[in-house]
Amino acid sequence: MTMMNDKNSLWWQKAVVYQVYPQSFKDSNNDGIGDLNGIIEKLPYLKKLGIDVIWLNPIYVSPQVDNGYDIADYYQINPDYGTLSDFEQLIQQAHSLNLKIILDLVVNHTSDQHEWFKASKKSRDNKYSDYYIWKDPSHDGSLPNDWGATFGGPAWTYVPERKQYYLHSFAPQQPELNWENPALRQDIYKMMRYWLDFGVDGFRMDVISLISKRQDFPNANGRFPYSKSYYAGASNGPRVHEFLQEMNREVLSNFDTLTVGETPNTNADQAILYTDSNRHELNMVFNFDHMHIDYSERGKFDVTRFQLTDLKRVFTQWQNKLSDHGWNSLYWSNHDQPRAVTRFGSEKYRVESAKSLATVLHMLKGTPYIFQGEEIGMTNAKFDSLTDYQDIETKNIINLYKEEGLDESFIKRVAYLRSRDNARTPMPWQNEKPYAGFSQNKPWIKMNPNYDTINVAQALMDTDSVFYHYQRLIALRHEYPVVINGKYHLYDPNDNNIYAFSRESTDGIKLFVIASFSEEKLTYQLPKVITNDNWRVLLNSYDNAFIIQDVISLEPYQSVILINR
Ligand code: GLC
Ligand code: CA
Repeated sequence: MTMMNDKNSLWWQKAVVYQVYPQSFKDSNNDGIGDLNGIIEKLPYLKKLGIDVIWLNPIYVSPQVDNGYDIADYYQINPDYGTLSDFEQLIQQAHSLNLKIILDLVVNHTSDQHEWFKASKKSRDNKYSDYYIWKDPSHDGSLPNDWGATFGGPAWTYVPERKQYYLHSFAPQQPELNWENPALRQDIYKMMRYWLDFGVDGFRMDVISLISKRQDFPNANGRFPYSKSYYAGASNGPRVHEFLQEMNREVLSNFDTLTVGETPNTNADQAILYTDSNRHELNMVFNFDHMHIDYSERGKFDVTRFQLTDLKRVFTQWQNKLSDHGWNSLYWSNHDQPRAVTRFGSEKYRVESAKSLATVLHMLKGTPYIFQGEEIGMTNAKFDSLTDYQDIETKNIINLYKEEGLDESFIKRVAYLRSRDNARTPMPWQNEKPYAGFSQNKPWIKMNPNYDTINVAQALMDTDSVFYHYQRLIALRHEYPVVINGKYHLYDPNDNNIYAFSRESTDGIKLFVIASFSEEKLTYQLPKVITNDNWRVLLNSYDNAFIIQDVISLEPYQSVILINR
């Protein structure tokens, strides 16, 4: 069942999603860890921003080896975050403000502390033996195949009780669930129904493109970087669409939900298969292609900078491919990525570039996702010492690079540019020592040291802040159907400083979006169709008089939206 809105768009197409990283949002009881009551406290702030949906990163019981992505009990709330009744309160209060809540659904793997795994590893013949993926050693006693795991090391770990290896694409403490087993699938669906009945409005599905494994478990033979070599038999596997269609039939089709799949190693053609509404799988998926444009031979952990032309090429490909079937999710950052301003904008022109990035994202076709702190233009965290990093992925890469003999200063720069911890520092609510109103007690991870200038109180006081630019953009999406439905067209693909594109709806309403990605002043030749007479400025990120003429001038990182009515 789905609810239709005006102009035939669905509510989740019109919506803007805000991602809350619970442990770093707001600590209500001063134990240094953000919690559910802290989120309740800040609902009016989110309402003021204008968003529609809140996505919570995992809030379940977890040993926190991978910050909650290692779940030990799908039905219980992590006591550090609160209780089930706190969560009930959160849902009620959010709903009373007309805000929806979606949960992270992590069903490719569990924690090794989950009861299912504890039973599974004991023997080959109990109820849970086949809930995980077990393989005998190869003939010579070695690993079942050559797959490596994301956070380093092989993707297989040996368990003497079973004399077998289990598969884990991530940490050894994150054993992979066996979706071939119908009993496992039914247990997952039951859990999903439980939370939907509880009142949640949908799911963000963690690495959902990995759930179906090729049953021949082929060697990667170097076709993927070692740490991602499980892709050889795990991404977009033979039964993934069958499983999702089953999940849709058994669970999702009975509720009015928003579903977004995190789909690593998935191209735009494959994304259509996940998101074409006729196929009854997911509403949308997270594309990774723009996350890879600044990778080098070393992969993610390097200091290379992206090219705007690559970004435009990737966005345009996804905009075009998913224009009639399927739906895009739009994002610059999340808890796995660096801060948008540092990565795609400029710390020198922090406010200006944060606005320009926001303009582009919100005017593309798809559902925008804002990662907490992005709306106040937070930057990457410059930690003093490599020992300040908490993330398992960052720690492992620091060790690896040290072993490889790389320079400490290079490693520091890599961590500063790429660590997942950059986005995980606590929300700075005000310019208040020592923990910026996040907590009265030492947070679980260091604050970004620049909270004295970059904080929510400052942003709310300054009518020219990044916050109010986001607020305006969100309002435009809600007001103008062309933002949701309009067809996308890219201008000047080879311009490496300016991103210009149009959106046009079938009733002739047209937007023209121009965003500078340059620290210099620039001029730009407007397309002929844009004339002074019937076009006007809908939004200008600078407080200057913008004149629509043949050749326009743009300030550093200026962005402008024009409309033809
Ligand atoms: C996803 C999550 C990430 C986690 C991984 C394993 O990519 O976003 O944080 O480490 O899956 O669950
Ligand atoms: Ca707390």
